[in-house]
This record gives sequence, structure tokens and C-alpha cells, in this order.
Amino acid sequence: MMASPAERDTEAAAILAANDRGGFSVPTKGLYPFQWNWDSAFAAMGYAHASGERAVQELQSLVAGQWPNGMIPHIIFHRPDPGYFPGPEVWETAMTPPTSGITQPPVLAIAIAALADRGVLAGERLADLLEAADRSHAFFFEARRDPATNVVGVVHPWESGRDNMPDWDDALAAVDASKVKPFVRRDTSHIDAAMRPTKEQYERYIALVEFGIAVGWDQRRIMVEGPFFVGDPGIAAVLVRAERELQRLARTIGRDDLGGNVDVRLPALCDGLEALWSDALGAYTTLDLRTGKRGEAVSSASFLPFAAGVVDAAQTERLNAHFDRLAARCRYMVPSYDPDAPTFDEKRYWRGPVWLVVNWLIALGLAETGDAARAERVRGDSRALVEAGGFYEYFSPLTGAPLGGADFTWTAAAWLDFARGTDG
Ligand code: SER
Repeated sequence: MMASPAERDTEAAAILAANDRGGFSVPTKGLYPFQWNWDSAFAAMGYAHASGERAVQELQSLVAGQWPNGMIPHIIFHRPDPGYFPGPEVWETAMTPPTSGITQPPVLAIAIAALADRGVLAGERLADLLEAADRSHAFFFEARRDPATNVVGVVHPWESGRDNMPDWDDALAAVDASKVKPFVRRDTSHIDAAMRPTKEQYERYIALVEFGIAVGWDQRRIMVEGPFFVGDPGIAAVLVRAERELQRLARTIGRDDLGGNVDVRLPALCDGLEALWSDALGAYTTLDLRTGKRGEAVSSASFLPFAAGVVDAAQTERLNAHFDRLAARCRYMVPSYDPDAPTFDEKRYWRGPVWLVVNWLIALGLAETGDAARAERVRGDSRALVEAGGFYEYFSPLTGAPLGGADFTWTAAAWLDFARGTDG
């Protein structure tokens, strides 16, 4: 049933409150019962609409899980919950609080900037969070950047946040899962298996966790020797934007020491993102850093570099052609994978469905490059999805059918800060 924007505002606020575990939020109850990294950064921007204080807390509880090497892990297991696999006893990272052993897209500095710009984060708390973001970016530079190409990559598909996107398939298929200890998935007890990654993919996800344990979670060894290292335009674009935000804010508080050596880190990260441009495809795509193979189709991440401020006029023209092709095929933009690709799957997690948080960043980038029309297509579709379907985890790009988990924190946050717009 179609709900009015005001009704959806109330619901969104209620979802954020219901998923608040006291200083940190869970993405949704049941399916994801801990604190997730990029979920929390988006959640903070949603909480800011009700309480600046609660928004700041969300980021502080996230950086409480930061490792001594600067990595902000993708999950922080603040409290035990048997309903999730793989839990802390599987990861064996020996951290306090317990955490996973991989990271996720560094949306943190983008959220810090949003809170600072709203005037709800300043002074010492701002400086502390910027220091945490700086150390996280330094971690990416040291332990997730291929020194030969400057490409930033992921050592596990879960790091990308776009877990089962088809571009990971080949690299994942090469991961040996023959020695993986038997395990029981929990996700498919919460959600229809047709909307989740396959069993074969899960076995390889766990094989990658077991490799991390085998090398004592030495993050450089995982990058250099591990079975999976793939350049990711999503994480690379988010990192460039985050780095720019970090430098901008650091200057406003007189902390020019943050942001690494500005003449080195940001230019290198921009070069690495450019190296993910495929001229054959006319889009940014993945690059397997072990085999040199590039992804062959457009994904939603192909459009994230707009938000990194790196796309030139010729690239814009080619990306726009893909955008318009997808927009003609899909009632709701932006599909997580190209609907013309044989691997497209309208319902299965990151192989087709629309995710509002990705739309949020794509629309931001499009608007900043002056493309109000395409930005509005993305925002308007996001708004229509929630108005018709509610606050689900993801949606079919073809029909708008709501999919995955219900009452989702980041969808509620995306509604409040982006999709609803200011005219409703
Ligand atoms: N998204 C993964 C999961 O489904 C891991 O972060 O559990």
C-alpha cells in the first residue's frame, strides 16, 4: 500500500529507534544482529535527523572496533548472538571488542563530514573521529593498495559490501574450498535462499576467512599472498571521496597533518581509481589483481566515481550511455548489475537488485557534476521504491518488489537524508 511521505518519515524514525542497541545500531534484527561498518556510517546520517548526539555516538561506537593497524572491521560483535554465521568464534581475530577480520567501504569520513556540516559534530570529538578515519585510510593505502598499479582492492567479496556481485565470480571460483570445515548458514533461515548468495559462494567466503586465520590476520600478507585480491571501483571511489572530505575538514580545524601526505596519498588513490576504467566497456569495473582480468559488465559501482570527482568529459559521455540504457530497461534505477548481462538476477542480493545507499552516493555524484536530471531519476526512483514497498534491504529494479530483510536501518536513513527530498 502506498504510504504518504509523512507516514514514511514516522516509520523511518521508528525503524532507526527499534534497531538502536544503545550507542550502536544493527542493520536489521535477526539477519544482521551486530554493528556493520558502512551500515553504521549511513545510519549516523539518518540518526542526525532526530538527534545529533545519537548520530555522533554511532560513529564513536564504530571506531571503538578499530584495529591497531588502522583497519575498521566490517562487523563489530559488541554482544553475542547465536542467530548469525559466521560469528566471532569463526573469525578468531582475538580483538576486544570481538570483530571480523576484513573491512568495508570507508563511508566513515563522508558521514563525519555530513555531521560536521550539519553542526552536530565539532571540537575534540570531530578531531578524534578524523584521526580514526585517517588511520583507516592509511590502512587501505598500506594493506589494500596494489603498489604496482595503485588500485585499491578487496581481499574478500564481503569487503566490497556488494558480496555476490557477478564480477567476483571468477576470482571466487579459483578459491579452494575443499578443506573448509562443515558449517551451518543462518542467513537462509531468515531470508528466502533465492535472494541470498549460493552455497558454493558461501563455502569460498569461509575458505577466505580460514586463510586469514592461518596467517594470523596479517593484513599485508593477506593482500600479497591471499587467494583473492580484486580491484573494486566501489571501494576505490568511496575512498577517494572520503579522503577529500577528510582533507577538507582537517583544514578547517587546523589539522593539516591528517589526510596522509596530501601530495602522495590522494593522487595515488585517484590514479588507482583511473586504472579501473575499462575502455573496452566504457565504464569503471573490477580488475583481478592476480590474473589481470577486468569485469565485463556495468554494475552500480561503475557510477560511484562521479562522487569521487575523477570522471572526465569523455568518460562521462560513455557512462551516461550506460546509465540511459539501464534506465530504459529498469523501472527503478540503479540495478546493482547490468540487466543485459547473462548473470543478472533480479532478486539475488547484489546480482541485480537496487540498494538505496548506493543510489544515495550515485545521486550525490551526479548532482555534483551538474547532471540534475539523472540525479533526480535516481532519487525519484529511490523515493518511489520506499513509498510503495517500505524499508526493505533491497528491491527489484524491474518491478520494485521489496526483497531481503525488512525494517532496514540504512534504507530508513537513506529515506530521511536523501530519498524523501525536501519537497514532501
Ligand atoms: N553481508 C554479509 C552477510 O550477509 C557479510 O557482511 O552476512
